[in-house]
Amino acid sequence: MSSVFVSRPLPAPGTAPLVAAGIEVEQHHHDRPPTRDELIAGLRGKQALLCLLTERIDADVLDAAPELRVVANLAVGYDNVDVAAATARGVVVTNTPDVLTDATAELTWALILSAARRVIEGDALVRAGRWTGWSPTQLLGTSLTGKTLGIFGMGKIGAAVARRARAFSMSVVYTNRSRNEAVEAELGARPASFDELLDVSDVLTLHAPSTPQTHHVIDEAALARLRPGAILVNTARGLLVDEAALVRALRARRLAAAGLDVYEREPALEAGLTELDNVVLLPHLGSATAEARAAMVELCCRNIVAVLAGEPPLTPVGPVAPKP
Ligand code: GLV
Repeated sequence: MSSVFVSRPLPAPGTAPLVAAGIEVEQHHHDRPPTRDELIAGLRGKQALLCLLTERIDADVLDAAPELRVVANLAVGYDNVDVAAATARGVVVTNTPDVLTDATAELTWALILSAARRVIEGDALVRAGRWTGWSPTQLLGTSLTGKTLGIFGMGKIGAAVARRARAFSMSVVYTNRSRNEAVEAELGARPASFDELLDVSDVLTLHAPSTPQTHHVIDEAALARLRPGAILVNTARGLLVDEAALVRALRARRLAAAGLDVYEREPALEAGLTELDNVVLLPHLGSATAEARAAMVELCCRNIVAVLAGEPPLTPVGPVAPKP
């Protein structure tokens, strides 16, 4: 009988699809990441791992699990998995693309709107009983209509964010590794160099994976180049932004505001971030809808069932080589 280690309690459908396929399940039952020792102990004798972006799956972990055949990561991003090390050991890695695209785009707009219209500050004022009535000068934000939305990373999530920009009468400019002509044709999005993106964006939103190439792409110089009063939103990965430089830019009010869902050292925050009133801070909620999470869990399970049955995975990342 094949067996799987599941590294966290899961939302519905949970492990039911694995059990239904006759796979034996061992699960980490605490709502915190397993320690490295717990992960390695859990993987002992297992052919499959269903893990989260909070687990670092590197060569040492893979070497501790010689029978492993598939790592199903419950996320579209997979920078937590050493895919080359897995491939070298004949371990298939899968992720959960598509099923979380709309949820993540929706959350991106929640951050854009919250940052532009100072929603969190307004809520805090009312709750604190400090609201003394309508005022023409109170909590003035930034209009979106007619402004330019800059998108760094025009994959599926970037395109879903761009599609929703039409509802706000914003024009879209983007930077991507390669041109996305389908999005240009569908949405009138305009490709731009990275420098031009920084120059023209009123709102800049990040949708690229975390790689050595995108590490701190938003650094001190990029923040200095953004238009005064611009808004930065990040629902991709924290490492794209130099958080210390962002704190300085927000403190100096060079940027009007930022909306962050992801951080460099989650769940730790850069010093000073929580003291700023011009940043909206969310706890990595991009795909956190019941619908998206159910579809993600289902897709992970289907990938595991397929690989253990000797069939091709549905959503592999990187090459699928047979176990030596
Ligand atoms: C979440 O951050 C994901 O990559 O799915």
